[in-house]
Amino acid sequence: MKALPDDFLWGGAIAANQSEGAFREGGKGLSLVDLLPVKGDRMKCMLDGAYALAHEGKYEYYPSHKSIDFYHHYKTDIQLLAEMGYKVFRLSVSWPRIFPNGDEQLPNEEGLRFYDAIFDECLKYGIKPLVTLNHFDTPLGLVKKYGGWRHREVIDCYLRYCEVLFKRYKEKVEYWITFNEINMLLHLPFIGAGLVFEAGENKEQVKYQAAHYQLVASAMATKLAHEINPANKVGCMLAAGNVYPFTCDPEDVWAALEKDREQFFFTDVQVRGAYPSYVQRFFHEHNIKLDIADGDLEAMKHTVDYVSFSYYSSRSISAKPDSAPSTEGNVFGSALNPYLPTSEWGWQIDPLGLRITMNTLYDRYQKPLFIVENGLGATDRIEADGSINDDYRIDYLEKHIKAMQEAVADGVELIGYTSWGCIDIVSASSGEMSKRYGFVYVDLDNEGNGTLERRRKKSFYWYQNVIKNNGVIE
Ligand code: BG6
Repeated sequence: MKALPDDFLWGGAIAANQSEGAFREGGKGLSLVDLLPVKGDRMKCMLDGAYALAHEGKYEYYPSHKSIDFYHHYKTDIQLLAEMGYKVFRLSVSWPRIFPNGDEQLPNEEGLRFYDAIFDECLKYGIKPLVTLNHFDTPLGLVKKYGGWRHREVIDCYLRYCEVLFKRYKEKVEYWITFNEINMLLHLPFIGAGLVFEAGENKEQVKYQAAHYQLVASAMATKLAHEINPANKVGCMLAAGNVYPFTCDPEDVWAALEKDREQFFFTDVQVRGAYPSYVQRFFHEHNIKLDIADGDLEAMKHTVDYVSFSYYSSRSISAKPDSAPSTEGNVFGSALNPYLPTSEWGWQIDPLGLRITMNTLYDRYQKPLFIVENGLGATDRIEADGSINDDYRIDYLEKHIKAMQEAVADGVELIGYTSWGCIDIVSASSGEMSKRYGFVYVDLDNEGNGTLERRRKKSFYWYQNVIKNNGVIE
């Protein structure tokens, strides 16, 4: 097997809204995620912004308000990552911690100081921060004032925020991601873009308009990052996973191609710098007419340095929806692939799918890739002796890391690998703590009870070894 480069970036990833808590401390404003309850109505809120706004303050428990309290535990948490030998730590900055309402002219200094401290702590251990600028937490103020990303004004608010971060952290951060899983706005329009639909309107029109604004904002932020520091490396970020045809019926093959295009639509713009040709017919047939201002298409020509993505599973599709049962868990909706096992949360497990996805992305773009999310959400049990023997997680990660190395041997250029939820955090889709991804266990339950004590799992030592051996797994 081809060896990974010596400077390969091994690490893990978390997001502010799922880890920080302290939702009202340090001058932070509310983000749209702060309206989401645990389980129950959560998915309904993520899909339907009007429902989420109508239920503001009505739920008993909001997981993002407390989360794992990374806000007060970051020193011990980063120390644990350093102990595993991390080279990179992906985290997001909470936009409303810097601009509480989103549209202020000046940033919140206390919020900036918090991230200064975090980045200093990482650098102390030689860990490079990889910063996501917007991970599902558009300020609620922008949602209420502008309807989130349905309004062009939000581009300026976002760029003001980006400029503050690029200048402030010029000496501390080089790796940036403009939007987490940008294609998620088509599937979960409230958390992806703060969209609240009006009765009877063309939802596709609203979603693709918001996508246009995010794509313009992403390109302009990339340009700005390069101007402020030419050493900056800026990536797009896709919720990836190739779509397989359910059978070799050409109808299924075509359906899979169209589904793949639904995701590549975003990266085609961010990597190639222009709308792909196939989108014209799609827009026409769905009655989508975009507001494209002078300069938008020119701005889009500023492309990213690398393609980052999350990979949890492949998907599959049948042209005849009723002919195949579908998976339960994943928000993408997929036909149940009979060749794959399924996790406790209904997500199918497909390590070879990672190799397929990486080869597809690299063939398409010829840009370095960065795997910034991958992992298994599972229930963990603490044994009587205090140990947590998460062999299922080790098994999942080992198979995916091996598949990743196969892709590198295939010729794919890869910057690094950050597994998702390296410390247990709140699940984005369900709000549960019991859906754990981490190498580090956090004592917290789905209702917010627990000591918040951190505890090393068996996978902690396993990953420490993987990093030490630069991916060579015996
Ligand atoms: C990705 C998100 O969609 O998947 C993360 O970028 C999320 O925020 C992760 O946590 C795993 O999903 P879940 O729902 O299991 O937390």
